[in-house]
Amino acid sequence: MMTTRQLQDEILRLKKEKDICILAHAYQSHEILEVADYTGDSYGLSQQAAKAPQKNVLMCGVRFMAETVKILSPEKKVYLSNSGAGCPMAEQLDVEMLSALKESNPDYTVVAYINTTSELKTICDVCVTSSSALKIVNNIDNDKILFIPDCNLGAWVEKQVPQKTFKFVHGGCPTHLRMSVRDVKKARAAHPEAKLLVHPECLPEAMADYIGSTTGIMKYAKESNAKEFIIGTENSIVQHLQYECPDKKFYPLSKDCVCHNMKLTTLMDVYNCVCGQGGEEIKLDENVRVKAKACIDTMLTMGE
Ligand code: 13P
Ligand code: SF4
Repeated sequence: MMTTRQLQDEILRLKKEKDICILAHAYQSHEILEVADYTGDSYGLSQQAAKAPQKNVLMCGVRFMAETVKILSPEKKVYLSNSGAGCPMAEQLDVEMLSALKESNPDYTVVAYINTTSELKTICDVCVTSSSALKIVNNIDNDKILFIPDCNLGAWVEKQVPQKTFKFVHGGCPTHLRMSVRDVKKARAAHPEAKLLVHPECLPEAMADYIGSTTGIMKYAKESNAKEFIIGTENSIVQHLQYECPDKKFYPLSKDCVCHNMKLTTLMDVYNCVCGQGGEEIKLDENVRVKAKACIDTMLTMGE
């Protein structure tokens, strides 16, 4: 039997030996974040995907994140550490549905949350993430925005860009949608001194003190003078913050805010991958890859 520590040490040794960069989304477990070369939100992971010097990249996150790495760095071998880890939101719209929407809204710019498939990205104008959406939508040279697929993120951007006209299609994150106004009232009553920090994938009624991406939430909590925080995003962030700020207190907005897809990857999966015995190598049709790259490149340029 190996201990967590022994597994981590082996992963650290093997990734160096085999020239593997480990990227981990902030929703991964703490033991995985500890062996990663870079951890952060979807935007940060996309930036790293383009500039990691290693020949191999192991993505600990969900499928669209690994696909983004492959789209940006086709010369690298890119692996998803657990092939079952997908984002349900990325599957909510397909190419046929979006093509029909584009046909009936020809003068709209299609803004796609990065949580979409590579195929869908081939017919989108620009990708956004929760940390870059506001800036990018503001800078788009069109006042008509077709925002897909997350209505909550879209509505949050719309509120802050009232001069533009938005259209949405029904979609959203099943994990963040579990949090309700009732949860907010309950958590506020239990922790009256705490600041409420939520992700924009949550319902707009969340009445938060701060709304931002996973990286944004962590930064806010670390820099704030407040001592208690209610966290309205995937619950691993509660644990990570507790490690980073032992003098502060963090409470989950709801115990149900767990992304089972993000939680699928284990430290053992990561170990197996660096041993060359697990995970899935991401292969994309070159035509799809090149077409999908345009809207990610546009995001990275406009998000600078
Ligand atoms: P960010 O990483 O952009 O905060 O998004 C959260 C998320 O749900 C990723 O799937
Ligand atoms: Fe997808 Fe939501 Fe899970 Fe993120 S938290 S991977 S958006 S289901």
